[in-house]
Amino acid sequence: MNPIIEVRNLRKAYGRTKAVDDVSLTVQPGEIFGIVGPNGAGKTTTIESIIGLRQPDGGSVSVLGMNPQAEPKKLGNRIGVQLQEAALPDRMKVWEALDLYASFYERTVPWEPLLETWGLAEKRQAQFGNLSGGQKQRLFISLALLNDPEVVFLDELTTGLDPQARRATWDLVRAIREQGKTVVLITHFMDEIEALADRVAIIDHGRVIALDTPPNLVAQLQSETQVHFTTPNGFEADVLRAVAGVTAVNQQNQQVTVTGRGPLLANVAAALAQHNIAPHDLRVQQANLEDVFLALTGRAIRN
Ligand SMILES: Nc1ncnc2c1ncn2[C@@H]1O[C@H](COP(=O)(O)OP(=O)(O)OP(=O)(O)O)[C@@H](O)[C@H]1O
Ligand SMILES: [Mg+2]
Repeated sequence: MNPIIEVRNLRKAYGRTKAVDDVSLTVQPGEIFGIVGPNGAGKTTTIESIIGLRQPDGGSVSVLGMNPQAEPKKLGNRIGVQLQEAALPDRMKVWEALDLYASFYERTVPWEPLLETWGLAEKRQAQFGNLSGGQKQRLFISLALLNDPEVVFLDELTTGLDPQARRATWDLVRAIREQGKTVVLITHFMDEIEALADRVAIIDHGRVIALDTPPNLVAQLQSETQVHFTTPNGFEADVLRAVAGVTAVNQQNQQVTVTGRGPLLANVAAALAQHNIAPHDLRVQQANLEDVFLALTGRAIRN
């Protein structure tokens, strides 16, 4: 299958700031492709270069077989974009926004069903400034889908939303893909990537430092696992230090964290039983994408 997006050795500087230093990636039809990285990593600049809003300093970009610099109008008719900085005048009504955006495209889908789909049918007369955060996001998604695009770019779609609204928005992203569209999802939330992305490029300081499926990235971490539990009745850490595979035991108040390798949960549970210690909420914590970032950079993604 030909990739929908092909980016090779992309570079873009703003003065002395190398916003994008060397980014290469391909996006396949029908996938949700994640781009994740800390603030200032170059995610938005990468996307703006891909959609033709920025002229790259070097490298090549191809989207749907087009060079975005050469054919911006033609490309614009086939992609949908929700920009990180998107905003509308507070007084603009929902229907007016759709009307305005529709004028940008050669071809649009009717907006009534679009508003139904995204739960905004009752809000068509409402002013932008009076919409909730989640409703604003859904309006931006509706606007991004107005031209029935083949690829949809969503830049920090859930930033500023409460946890419930974030989850609801994840369902919307899945719904977009179920319509057969390709989604490029830019975020600095690793949990969002784990929940949604088929593949992810982790970007740091303008470079791709890892690119794979989230499970593969986690599997490549030859990391130790951690077992957590609480013991209300006090506990001797030495009991666990001798257990096979255990490399560290940390205790904070009643919270115990055991770090190690192998079948750690089984070994720890057996040792506790042997010493008649009844742990509360004994559980294993698997490595996740946050740990991948930490392992690759030595820093947490959010500092
Ligand atoms: N228009 C601009 N002019 C000058 N510098 C810019 C401009 N846009 C971005 N930068 C700088 O380029 C770097 C990358 O910014 P970019 O917005 O691409 O990062 P990002 O990964 O999207 O970050 P965030 O998670 O905060 O959205 C940053 O150092 C930023 O300050
Ligand atoms: Mg950004």
